Amino acid sequence: MRRLLATLILAIAAPAAAQGADIAARGAALYADNCLECHGPTATEGEVGDIRGLSLGTVTGAVRSGPGMMPVFALGEDEIRAIVAYLGRLRSG
Ligand code: HEC
Repeated sequence: MRRLLATLILAIAAPAAAQGADIAARGAALYADNCLECHGPTATEGEVGDIRGLSLGTVTGAVRSGPGMMPVFALGEDEIRAIVAYLGRLRSG
């Protein structure tokens, strides 16, 4: 029974974890192309400092409005979501 439960949990959790890794990998590429130049490889550099682990709303707001010296980016919602997933992973190590 315990074994069955473990198998069931794995069957449900593994694809979700794989999907999470995929989206974060996509976010890493998007971050490198668009954001790394100013926010640095650890996302803690530059004028604002740490941008890891911010909410989707906060990151979307910054990307769409271009605060201060930051340009506006024509990124889709999926792309911003991927960047946020990557930034969350950076924070958790
Ligand atoms: C040309 C440099 C530059 C680039 C490229 C850039 N940023 Fe920024 N970003 C800034 C600056 C400067 C600020 C601070 C603006 C201010 O408030 O004066 C900022 C602010 C932010 C904030 C707001 C943080 C907060 O606490 O409200 C977020 C989130 C952010 N950037 C995310 C991104 C993401 C995601 C990308 C890539 C899509 C990106 N930035 C690309 C320079 C940049």
